[in-house]
Amino acid sequence: MLRGEKVGLRARHDEDVPVLLAELYDDVVNSARAEGRPWRPLSPGSKDPRLVGDDTNPAHVSFSVVESAGGTLVGTATLWGIDTHNRTAHIGLGLLPSTRGKGYGTDVVAVLCHYGFVVRGLQRLQIETLADNTAMLRAAERNGFVREGVLRSSAWVMGGFLDQVLLGLLAEEWKA
Ligand SMILES: CC(C)(COP(=O)(O)OP(=O)(O)OC[C@H]1O[C@@H](n2cnc3c(N)ncnc32)[C@H](O)[C@@H]1OP(=O)(O)O)[C@@H](O)C(=O)NCCC(=O)NCCS
Repeated sequence: MLRGEKVGLRARHDEDVPVLLAELYDDVVNSARAEGRPWRPLSPGSKDPRLVGDDTNPAHVSFSVVESAGGTLVGTATLWGIDTHNRTAHIGLGLLPSTRGKGYGTDVVAVLCHYGFVVRGLQRLQIETLADNTAMLRAAERNGFVREGVLRSSAWVMGGFLDQVLLGLLAEEWKA
């Protein structure tokens, strides 16, 4: 378990899967905005790695996010696209709707930075998010991420193209 101020990041447990399926992945709009690929239904019992995790992929680490107080599941966090030559990786997270806006997302980013920089020895972490995702942009910037550019009309989301913002943070810039 990796611990932040408000949340912990642990392995995916079997009992997390139906909650994540119902509250995150089956929300078509949320999935379309967060996934970068078309939504498609996942059956109960699906082994899709977004749901069950994939311990065999060295470039991808999936966490379940739980509240520090009580251990209730609140969402998912991933370090993906891990490149051990350039020592870079991407960050992704998604919280259950009822748990958003409580500072958990900011804390998840902090814990993923600790994992990326301290545990994995990476040099650069990157986030891509929709330009209108104020909560994600703020959670990233609170942790020191810098806006490096706008990827114009790079995301097809529910019938239209949206801009994405690219943010980066280097190990030497990060303040734990
Ligand atoms: C994006 C997400 C992870 C942010 O986590 P969160 O716990 O909701 O965010 P926090 O409570 O840590 O808030 C971070 C900042 O955003 C602000 N914020 C939170 N919700 C907001 C909203 N709906 N609109 C505008 N600002 C918001 C907070 O006030 C805070 O700002 P501050 O640092 O200036 O005080 C979460 O909202 C989520 O899971 N959204 C859906 C999935 C998603 O978009 N994932 C990211 C894909 S790249």
